[in-house]
Amino acid sequence: MAAIASSELITNDGGSVFHLHLRPGEIAEKIVLVGDPGRVKMIADRFDRVEQRQANREFHAITGTYRGQRLSVLSTGIGTDNIDIVVNELDALVNIDLVTRRPRAEKQTLELVRIGTSGAIQPHVPLGAFILTGTSIGLDGVLRYYKGHERVRDIEMEAAFTEQCRWPLDLARPYAVHSSPSLVERLYVEGITTKGVTLTASGFYGPQGRALRLPLQEEDINDRIARFSHRGARVLNYEMESAAIAGLSALLGHRAATICLAIANRATGEALPDYKSRMEQLIAHTLDQFTRQTKTLSS
Ligand code: URA
Repeated sequence: MAAIASSELITNDGGSVFHLHLRPGEIAEKIVLVGDPGRVKMIADRFDRVEQRQANREFHAITGTYRGQRLSVLSTGIGTDNIDIVVNELDALVNIDLVTRRPRAEKQTLELVRIGTSGAIQPHVPLGAFILTGTSIGLDGVLRYYKGHERVRDIEMEAAFTEQCRWPLDLARPYAVHSSPSLVERLYVEGITTKGVTLTASGFYGPQGRALRLPLQEEDINDRIARFSHRGARVLNYEMESAAIAGLSALLGHRAATICLAIANRATGEALPDYKSRMEQLIAHTLDQFTRQTKTLSS
């Protein structure tokens, strides 16, 4: 294969990738993704040892060990546009030789777990719930730019969603992607996590059905979404990154899942602005479950 041109894969002096400012070897195979750069230190404070810190723009990274296992934490900022950068550059760090600029023959599989905040849309989901994403439905357009997206999408679920929600044709076409089953199995604990479908929106206000001064084109969209049901699965929450992480990871051969704290409930109108202590609990749960040893690591 021809070398990838400098314009397509930009690297910095010193050999780091363009936005993340990380060099090969500076990330672990297991990576926790968070939106907020401030949450990177909160997570790394639980590490046994820190070996590496890096920061550029909203992308802050710390690599170290947690209970003896190598682990990285990286902030992505908000939105699927940033996820396009983060997942492509993480993959380049392990699967492209940045000197010859050619893909490596042996591909490495990363495990990515996003810990985020989200807004529940079902009235029975309490504030502070830990919502584990079994499937993400992306309401952004990022995944469809990549060839082969149909391989990783649940096309039947998308069709059911589009029909039941009477999805407007002038919005981006929803795409459904499952989280890695092995990560979901590891992160799920009955009575602690609630598993369901997560919507990844392309904005916080209008794209999640919030109207401040601007009225919405589709006023009852959240009621339609809350009624959606497919093979027993219901939409539980809105956030802004999960579908692109799951979709790009699946295309590149990585494993990904998302777990979110419900800091708002759109059906009841409540919010939990002071969620730091509950987030600490979600972080503790996720790190323990993510790094626990399992029998199968195949999917
Ligand atoms: N993050 C979101 O994207 N939506 C919410 O309602 C809360 C957090």
